[in-house]
Amino acid sequence: MRIVVARDYLELSKKAANMLASQIILKPNSVLGLATGATPIGTYSELVRLYKEETISFCDIITFNLDEYYGLDVDNKQSYSYFMKEHLFHHINIKKENIHIPNGKAQDIFLECKRYEAAIKDAGGIDMQLLGIGRNGHIGFNEPDVKFEAMTHLVTLDEDTIGANSRFFKDKEQVPRQAISMGIKTIMHSRKILLLANGIEKADMIYEMINGKITPELPASVLQLHPDVTVILDGNAASALKIYEIP
Ligand code: GLP
Repeated sequence: MRIVVARDYLELSKKAANMLASQIILKPNSVLGLATGATPIGTYSELVRLYKEETISFCDIITFNLDEYYGLDVDNKQSYSYFMKEHLFHHINIKKENIHIPNGKAQDIFLECKRYEAAIKDAGGIDMQLLGIGRNGHIGFNEPDVKFEAMTHLVTLDEDTIGANSRFFKDKEQVPRQAISMGIKTIMHSRKILLLANGIEKADMIYEMINGKITPELPASVLQLHPDVTVILDGNAASALKIYEIP
């Protein structure tokens, strides 16, 4: 695991965008795994800037998002589909048919999960997967006690996640209780993983993810077993890792 500590959120976002940009430049038809949440928003705006400056092009890029709320339509402002359009897809030259996000309105969830896994496989697998981390250590929507063997599946959100994600909704009652998420196994199959975290509330979780026991109780701890993970932190998220000088 490579740990990079950035001065602040802007530097973290620039470093993350540069890693994704270099993946895109080296392999213009890369398959990227994308994440939602507040953390990657700065990374997406840096990528949009690099695209506008003609440093990178998304014309042959294929994307797969980690997850989507179950029951939300693509036009719902709280859906991850809407989030991705707003923060990235509407501002770059990606082809519509190259964008993949689980269908939160699928009639047959089992088939939808199977279809999603097959699409990732058909695209040749994920070259670089971007991740955030939940306050309870989840990645995607793989909540504590998820099975490490899980592929894309329907998940029931933890009370903690519902509370944390309610900041994006009018009130807590509106937060969907379920989601479709890539599984831990899907994520672990990615060739490279880039995990971002900022803010003091992530510090203990980051410490445990890097130094703690590898256990489904802390889903992100499985990343200790992946051969190519880069973790980019701001000083606050890195503050429990005493070996680093905090800027
Ligand atoms: C959601 C997403 C995760 C994300 C997490 C953290 O639950 N499903 O992929 O990592 O939120 O969000 P934030 O970056 O806002 O802390």
